[in-house]
Amino acid sequence: MCEYIPYKGIDFPHLSVTLKDLNFMENEFQVRDDDIFNVTYPKSGTTWVAEILSLIDTNGDPTWSKTIPNWERVPWLESPDTVEILQNKKEIPRLITSHVPKQLFCKSLARSKAKVIYTVRNPKDVLVSLYYFSKMSVYYKDPKSFGDLMEKFLTGDVPYGSWFDHVTGWLELVGKDNFLLNTYEDLYWDLRGSVLRISKFLGKKFDNAVIDSIVEHATFKSMKENDMANFRLLPNVYMDQDKSPFMRKGVTGDWKNHFTVAQSERFDKVYREKMHDCTVKFPWDR
Ligand code: A3P
Repeated sequence: MCEYIPYKGIDFPHLSVTLKDLNFMENEFQVRDDDIFNVTYPKSGTTWVAEILSLIDTNGDPTWSKTIPNWERVPWLESPDTVEILQNKKEIPRLITSHVPKQLFCKSLARSKAKVIYTVRNPKDVLVSLYYFSKMSVYYKDPKSFGDLMEKFLTGDVPYGSWFDHVTGWLELVGKDNFLLNTYEDLYWDLRGSVLRISKFLGKKFDNAVIDSIVEHATFKSMKENDMANFRLLPNVYMDQDKSPFMRKGVTGDWKNHFTVAQSERFDKVYREKMHDCTVKFPWDR
């Protein structure tokens, strides 16, 4: 049965991590200056950015992305394998994925020049994606209903805590040279421009053919067909893709097909209250 493991007030999916791992991650894991972090709140485009980072790392050559699963290419920071896989990793840079809120993230990040790409998505679309993911994945509790999950989401009673706290916590780094704020919506509406922006942030200058290759292999269609990117390698007991595919719809604005008018108004009210002091304007705010 799915259980969460609470660590300093935040629930983590139990199957993938222990308290010891989390304590190690926060207090002992040594971030290196050349590390590249792919940080997100769940269902915000984590896998998409992991794919883009892999392809940037290989200068657009898709061989790595097509032969090695994404969880080995861009492993999880908050994982039982952190020590084994990350500490002993020889490759430079290390590409690392994480959902950890800023306040619990490795303390050694503050002393390093490691680069962080933080990807945000319209929280209404995050909630819809999370709803389907919770139904198909063993890591998340099966939601009673969409409305029930929405109430939990709004109060932060979900794994990795409140979306609002997660986003505002990481946004404290906006303006730092080693922090790039990215959005799912930018990826969706302008994948090429986003790939260029991420590449530039990582100090890479590519010719058009390389950019074309990165874009081609990071499209929804390519990733849906690539079992190294779409979690099809995982047995059904972990992710039952017959219930809902991991690469589900891959669009912006799917929330309009799921929220009632009342739910949307309630969500907007909480959003306005919680994001009142946020000066960043997101694509969905415009
Ligand atoms: P949907 O459930 O809305 O389809 P994460 O990787 O953070 O768990 O996010 C998963 C979401 O990102 C899913 O959203 C998935 O379809 C979407 N996604 C992953 N790769 C994508 C791509 N190349 N293009 C568009 N959406 C993508």
